[in-house]
Amino acid sequence: MALFGTKTVPDEEVGLLQPSVGEAGNDRAKRPLSLAATTITATLVGFLVGCVVSLYVFGQYDSETSALKAVVGRQTYPLNFLVVGDWGREGEFNQTMVAEQMGRVGRQLKINFVVSVGDNFYQAGLKGPNDPKFQNSFSKVYTARSLQTPWYSVLGNHDYLGDTLLQIGDALTKKDNRWFCDRSYLLKHNLCGPSHTGHCHKFVEFFFIDTTPFVDKYWSPEQKRTFDWRGIGHRQTYLDTQLEKLNSGLSSSSATWKIVIGHHTIRSLGRHGDTHEMVKQVLPILEKLKVDMYLNGHDHCLEHIKREDSTVHFVTSGAGSKSFQGLRQGKPEDGLQFGYDGQGFISVSMAAQDLRIDFHDALGHKLHQLTLHK
Ligand SMILES: *[C@@H]1O[C@H](CO)[C@@H](O)[C@H](O)[C@H]1NC(C)=O
Repeated sequence: MALFGTKTVPDEEVGLLQPSVGEAGNDRAKRPLSLAATTITATLVGFLVGCVVSLYVFGQYDSETSALKAVVGRQTYPLNFLVVGDWGREGEFNQTMVAEQMGRVGRQLKINFVVSVGDNFYQAGLKGPNDPKFQNSFSKVYTARSLQTPWYSVLGNHDYLGDTLLQIGDALTKKDNRWFCDRSYLLKHNLCGPSHTGHCHKFVEFFFIDTTPFVDKYWSPEQKRTFDWRGIGHRQTYLDTQLEKLNSGLSSSSATWKIVIGHHTIRSLGRHGDTHEMVKQVLPILEKLKVDMYLNGHDHCLEHIKREDSTVHFVTSGAGSKSFQGLRQGKPEDGLQFGYDGQGFISVSMAAQDLRIDFHDALGHKLHQLTLHK
C-alpha cells in the first residue's frame, strides 16, 4: 500500500504530504513485523517485540522528515495538526462548515496530519465496504487541499455499532488513502526545528487507545444496540492487555511530550461527563507516567479541563458536527479552564519546549488559546 506514493504534490504544499509519514504510518503500523527493516531505535524495537505477540498491538513508526515548518506569530512549530471528533453526518449539522474552517486553518499551519478522536460515522458506523457514508461523510466533506494528509483515527462507540473490522482494515484506505484507523497504536514525531543539525532527541509520542470496550453499559444484557466486538476476544483480557501495553509503552518512553488519545472522556462537563471506567482504570496510569495531555471526543463540545488534583490536561474536541448539547460550568474543583458548547475543532502546534492549542468554532473564530511549556 503506497500511501501518497502516486500523488502529485502541488508546489505550494510541499511538505504537507510527506510520503514517509503516510507510507511509514500505515505500512508499519499495520505490519509491525516489517519494522525490523526500518530505522528505528533499539528501545522502540524492544517495545515492538513486546507488542507483536499480541493481537492488540500498538503499531509503530517514526516520521523523521518534516520539510516545511509552519510559523505562528514568532514561534516556529515543527509539528502542527488538527483534532476533530464526532463528525460523520454526511455534511449535516454544520459538518461541512467545520470542514471548511479546518481546511483554512490547516493551510495556515501547514499541518502534518489530522487526528480523528472517533465517532467517525453516525449513527451506526459503516455497514459494509460499499456504504456510501464513507464518501459522503469523509471524502466528499474534507476536500480542502490542506486536509489531504494522513487522518489518524480511533473508533468511537457509534463506530462499534457498524462494521469495525472494515474501519480498521485496508479497504477504506484503498478508497481514500488518507484514512488510517486502528484500535491502539503509537505515533511518534520529532520536534527539532529546521535549523537543527545532527540527531534529534526531542520528540512527541501519541498513544492512541481503544476506549469503547472499557464502558460497562455497552456490554450490559439490557443493551439494545448491537456492538461489533469481533476481534476483541475476551473482554477483560483485551482491556488488561491494552492497559499493560499503555503502561509499558509510557514507562519506556523517552519522549519530551506524551499525549494519549481516545474517544471517551476522562474528565468532562459535557452531556456525557466523566467516563468512570476511564477515571478508574486509565487515569492512574496517565498520572503515574506523567502524560501531559489526554485528548478525546464523545462530548460534542470543546473543553480544556485542568484540575488541582491531577497533573493531566484534559482536552475535548468532539464538536465536528451535531453539537449544542449542554456544557456545565461545574464547581471550581472541576477545573474547567475553557468550554464551548458548539461546533468546532482544535489545532495543535508543537515544538520541543512548547505546546499550543487553539480552539476554533465553525464560523472561523479563534475562541481560546492554551499554551504549555517544558
Ligand atoms: C450551525 O452553526 C451556526 C453558527 O454556529 C448555529 O447558529 C446553528 O445553530 C448551527 N446549526 C446546527 C444544526 O447546529
